[in-house]
Amino acid sequence: MNKLIWLTDLHLVEPDREWPAGVDPLRRLRACFEEIEAQHADADRIVISGDLIQIRSPGAYRILRDELEATRTPYRLLAGNHDDREALLSVFPEAGQHDGFIQYAEAVGDARILYVDTVAQDGKHHGELCPARIRWIAEQIELAGDKPLLVFLHHPPFDIGVPALDRLRLLDADVLAALLQKRRGPTHLFCGHVHRNASGLWAGHPFATLKSPHVQFDLDMKRNKLERSGEPPGYGVVLIRRHGIVLNYRDLPVS
Ligand SMILES: [Fe+2]
Repeated sequence: MNKLIWLTDLHLVEPDREWPAGVDPLRRLRACFEEIEAQHADADRIVISGDLIQIRSPGAYRILRDELEATRTPYRLLAGNHDDREALLSVFPEAGQHDGFIQYAEAVGDARILYVDTVAQDGKHHGELCPARIRWIAEQIELAGDKPLLVFLHHPPFDIGVPALDRLRLLDADVLAALLQKRRGPTHLFCGHVHRNASGLWAGHPFATLKSPHVQFDLDMKRNKLERSGEPPGYGVVLIRRHGIVLNYRDLPVS
């Protein structure tokens, strides 16, 4: 069995910056890492699925690096719409790249893991995949054969039923759906961006979205306006076995 710790949407800021939503993102991240160190020192990876920093706070990548190095667990990073690829790579030069995107694949135990870059090229907040990224995903799906395949993306390629979040999802997701529909082996999608726990089925495979260790968005299925909710922060623990993948959701009781 292999274990991944999954976090998403940290929104870290430089020390002299105002906290997003009036909540210190670093204090909450540290509360997560304390528990992760105590309970999950056996994890194979920490995966953070994008929005590592708050927009225009590139100095926060250095803070994140220090925090991650202290955990002593290998980590993998994705970019989100709040990230700056160039600043991210200047602090994490080892982050995998393909065709200029922060996009890479690896084996963990019997499984293959894809880390997909869904960031729009024009700086917009919705997600997109260009032909180069789609080509790479197709190659990687082929390479995975019938092994368990875990696909991490910042932007969900589906609606979760919250209009203000759904309009910012991965657009033009049909090509990705067609690629995934051909797969027979265990496959699971893990998406960030929405600051909520949701799960379901898309393109014939299970998906999950995840809360942020920082703040959450409200489950508002009527209005088209993003509002914060008071729900607690959280992270995920993913267990991978030859014939199955399990996601455990963990809420943290922090103020
Ligand atoms: Fe995002």
